[in-house]
Amino acid sequence: MNKVLIRGFEIYPDYLPKEVQSDLVDALRSCLMTAPLIRPVTPRGKPMSVRMSAAGAYGWISDRKGYRYEARHPSGVAWPAIPKILLDVWTELVPEARRPECCLINWYADSAKMGMHQDSDEADLSQPVLSVSLGDDALFRMGNTTRGGKTESVWLKSGDVVVMRGSARQAFHGIDRIKPNNSALLADGGRINLTLRVVT
Ligand code: SIN
Ligand code: MN
Repeated sequence: MNKVLIRGFEIYPDYLPKEVQSDLVDALRSCLMTAPLIRPVTPRGKPMSVRMSAAGAYGWISDRKGYRYEARHPSGVAWPAIPKILLDVWTELVPEARRPECCLINWYADSAKMGMHQDSDEADLSQPVLSVSLGDDALFRMGNTTRGGKTESVWLKSGDVVVMRGSARQAFHGIDRIKPNNSALLADGGRINLTLRVVT
């Protein structure tokens, strides 16, 4: 298994074979039938460019009331179960961790991006975060545990997995841009990022 370490971020290039990626996309389509993608707004009311849904016991929500985890989709339905393919990746790469309680599903259209941020809404920050990329390439920027300072970037490709634990768990990170239409995985183009987390 190939592993690259950048600023404490563990990157596993080509971790998921193509046929597993396709099976995962099928599983996600079924998740999104239960819990459709929504366009969140920031607590200040600015629409985010990424569309979101979730699977698992909790989903991450951003709206006028703030950032938080909720046990239900805004429609009132419970979130669907986390696809088994993802639970297996979690067990293989972070065996020391508790079971993931949230799989955030982020969908990036061609012009979508995500500003530099820390993942810090979880109760136990000793637990890792694991992210899976599907579809078009994305420029992932990695920084420091405080805002600003030197950063490094890497293009994440379909099937790549990133683990944030140890010093990288609280490091700032974001997506600068997507490379439109460079992957054939998603029929309608774009990129999906899946983030597995322990919430409680
Ligand atoms: C995130 O940090 O929430 C998403 C990262 C990514 O899209 O790769
Ligand atoms: Mn994040």
